[in-house]
Amino acid sequence: MTYETIIVEIEEGIATVTLNRPDVLNALNSQVFNELADVAVNLGEDDSVRAVIITGGDKVFAAGADIKAMASLTAVDVAASVRPSLRAFNLLENMHKPVIAAIAGYALGGGCELTLTADVRIAADNAQFGLPEIKLGILPGGGGTQRLPRLIGAGKAKELIFSGDFISAEEALRVGLVNKVVPADQLLTEAKKMAKKFAARGAVAIYLAKSCVNEGLRMDLEMGLQYEHKCFGLLFATEDQKEGMKAFIEKRKPNFQGK
Ligand code: HXC
Repeated sequence: MTYETIIVEIEEGIATVTLNRPDVLNALNSQVFNELADVAVNLGEDDSVRAVIITGGDKVFAAGADIKAMASLTAVDVAASVRPSLRAFNLLENMHKPVIAAIAGYALGGGCELTLTADVRIAADNAQFGLPEIKLGILPGGGGTQRLPRLIGAGKAKELIFSGDFISAEEALRVGLVNKVVPADQLLTEAKKMAKKFAARGAVAIYLAKSCVNEGLRMDLEMGLQYEHKCFGLLFATEDQKEGMKAFIEKRKPNFQGK
């Protein structure tokens, strides 16, 4: 897979997608969104890929949507131009495999919102998070007003959205915005370690568990519990369920095939 604004590497079932516009701190323009959407579809269809890492490398995750590209847009332009980000973020969030965001340096605006589409966020100790859109006279339009409150609660999300202030990796950990903080030079190693752990599990079980959490967040508790029960039952039709339970009884590690 060859792209201009992202680099994709696949190694031992783990795909690493690296944002690659270093001159503008990985600012996200429509080309980036289109390439992210494309890679989400392609990696989703590639059965050899069992987990995905999204990163900006070791200096910066992404300083947000490209302000220079947005500055002269009209309301009509925006109604159209917002579609690539919506499409990319929805495709990433709904991938049938685990997605880990590995974040160093700034994750601002659309960059922060991109991390919210991942299942798990690992931050380098130098990471900074923020939704500074309010300082530009706009609001977080890449899911920040929706995914962030669902993740960290409305009160803290509103403080970040209304102030535009940045928070450190440690503060992000404290409020539940990230799962883990690691030394900057360990970021990709830690992300790969976690990705490998997920990749060794049954792929169908991971997909359905992800679906239960994501879909469940859109349902009331009763509906969510019913959905979970159906997915639970469905897994008893997989070879992985037979293998997982057989391996337990035989006191050995399971060898899941993802079917
Ligand atoms: C375009 C950007 C950019 C951005 C940085 N650059 N952020 N270009 N869009 N979002 C460019 C700068 O213009 C500069 O290019 C180069 O990257 C380096 O940035 P500096 O500002 O010189 O670096 P520094 O002084 O270290 O400051 C870093 C920073 C600052 C604090 C991250 O760049 C900053 O505040 N950036 C904007 C952050 C922001 O407001 N993000 C939200 C965007 S709105 P030149 O050529 O001048 O050297 C948004 C909406 C989402 O994300 C909508 C849905 C997806």
